Amino acid sequence: MSKQVIKKCLFPAAGYGSRFLPATKSMPKEMLPVVNKPLIEYGVEEAMQAGMDNMAIITGRGKRAIADYFDTNYELEHQILGTGKEKYLEDIRRIINGCVFSYTRQIEMKGLGHAILTGETLIGDQSFAVVLADDLCYSPDQGVLSQMVELYEKYQCSIVAIEEVPRDETYKYGVIAGEEIEPGVLRVSDMVEKPAPEDAPSNLAIIGRYILTPDIFEIIRQTPPGRNGEVQITDALMTQAKRGGVLAYKFKGRRFDCGSVSGFMDAGAFYYKNVYKALD
Ligand code: G1P
Repeated sequence: MSKQVIKKCLFPAAGYGSRFLPATKSMPKEMLPVVNKPLIEYGVEEAMQAGMDNMAIITGRGKRAIADYFDTNYELEHQILGTGKEKYLEDIRRIINGCVFSYTRQIEMKGLGHAILTGETLIGDQSFAVVLADDLCYSPDQGVLSQMVELYEKYQCSIVAIEEVPRDETYKYGVIAGEEIEPGVLRVSDMVEKPAPEDAPSNLAIIGRYILTPDIFEIIRQTPPGRNGEVQITDALMTQAKRGGVLAYKFKGRRFDCGSVSGFMDAGAFYYKNVYKALD
């Protein structure tokens, strides 16, 4: 079998963003800006840097602003053509010209596994990446997805990104256990969604970056609801780990949990100082 190249990236973006109410009452949380760019744009840039050019977005009610954002605004283009403000649109123009965007709606909120399964129609029968835009990853030399694609090229199996978290925070994450097969790479032997600290198999938490092989769709279809009565990608990945193998990768870089107000504020301050101001 010839080696697969990963061209598609799935962005589950149907969630309500309730922790950011009232701001998210009429705008998608993925559009909240970290300095001057919406959260989801950072994820798209990371996927492009990893060689992907097909962005598949799972949306829901009230999320139209995302599709409008990744489209040309002719009136605006006309207004600022030839002015000094054109520079502000350079990055988003590059994205719009360099990628294809496709969308489908998740009608019911039945968990991350269900959201990913909803994307099957956009992905088809090929390996793909998943980005949870809430997890903003800063790794200036090589993006996290690009690091994971290199690993995928070697092992050709599903991969989750992990990082160590304080033991008392395991209840927020999917947590793995495994055996290290090369520095920073573990073969997964156990995986639990949001365990209490005393039930957690380790303090290695999954963060919102995945590479998945397409057999995951059939596995999700057969995965019963788990934690919170939702279909969990963590449970489906555990089945895949038992069958063939799933890797966990300690990524190089720094993650901001932009799903929480404090993580979002930290990201804003950090990006303002280290990215935005540094370019000024
Ligand atoms: C999801 C996953 C969880 C993972 C986390 C990373 O949880 O279910 O396994 O650790 O993303 O951000 P959520 O944060 O959507 O509750």
